[in-house]
Amino acid sequence: MQDNSGNDRFSLHEFAVDRSIDARRTGRGVTFEGQDGRFTQTWWPMCRSSELAPGKVLGRGFLDGRVAIFRTEKGVAQVVSAYCPHNGADLSVGEVHQEELRCKFHRWCFDRSGTCTRTGSGDRVPPGARVFAYPTRERFGLIWAFNGETPLFELPDLGYPDDELIFHANIPSLDVNADPWIFMCNTLDFNHIKCVHGLKFEHAEPDAEIRWEPYAVHYPLRAHFADTGAPVSYDLAIHGTNIFWQTGVANGHWFGFLFPAGMHRPGTMRCYTIIAAHKGDGSPQALQAARKALDFGMELETLVVGQDLEILNTIRFNRGHFTRSDRALARFMDHIMEYPRAHPGAQWIK
Ligand code: FES
Ligand SMILES: [Fe+2]
Repeated sequence: MQDNSGNDRFSLHEFAVDRSIDARRTGRGVTFEGQDGRFTQTWWPMCRSSELAPGKVLGRGFLDGRVAIFRTEKGVAQVVSAYCPHNGADLSVGEVHQEELRCKFHRWCFDRSGTCTRTGSGDRVPPGARVFAYPTRERFGLIWAFNGETPLFELPDLGYPDDELIFHANIPSLDVNADPWIFMCNTLDFNHIKCVHGLKFEHAEPDAEIRWEPYAVHYPLRAHFADTGAPVSYDLAIHGTNIFWQTGVANGHWFGFLFPAGMHRPGTMRCYTIIAAHKGDGSPQALQAARKALDFGMELETLVVGQDLEILNTIRFNRGHFTRSDRALARFMDHIMEYPRAHPGAQWIK
């Protein structure tokens, strides 16, 4: 996997965008992210925690605009719209001043709620001078922003409370040229699980066991790899429209796998691989087994994700001629198309 951990605050184009993706963003029965001026309301991963030291600012594309991500000197991260309401300077080239973000151009300051607290000249702050503050969380080694005024749901646990888990030290990322929900469709696409990933189901396709919730879809997967015979027993879920979630055992190792896709530009995703293992009783033996599970999980999931890439980077997704065994995929597409969409930050981030 490609690792994009560099600080890109001075680069104009953080994505090496394949322009042909725009042509691929039309499809029968499908609404792409941003196509109707709105985006699905979910938690979007914005950057790794390790990319943002206290007192630092990063700039990122987000949805169809730009945001600044800053960490206060006390260590709290916040995502806000990038353009200053004074003259439109990009706040990601500004600086953190104590607990606030300060514009480089004329030193207006903004707190974590997005409110302008003072101007650089000392003039009175104009009423309504603010930036849009996205609900922000920091978890699993990532900084996340919710596309909404308030979150519709919270990030899920990865099988256990976070403090009972250890995480793989690396969080690789991967840029893919398709909407995030298209990758997530794979999870309910049982035929592709067999054809692309070589898994044989132990049970009939688990349609009856799928749990549909407003902001998540869950099901158990019991299978084995056709080539090696190695068994897998996973609980799978998609949270929101862009967060793949998996816990369970493969080849005797329990691990958790989170694969959230951020969107720095419509039609693209930046996916992060997060692998967790349980500390057990915390003994040296248990920790050694957990570290082995981390390495096993990272190797397996890197392989599995790699099997999808050529298809995702070239697909012109449409709702085509679905057959009987596509019914879970068809319902998932309905779920995605009916999922809440909004763009409350639109007037600030563009
Ligand atoms: S443009 Fe930001 S303070 Fe003037
Ligand atoms: Fe896949």
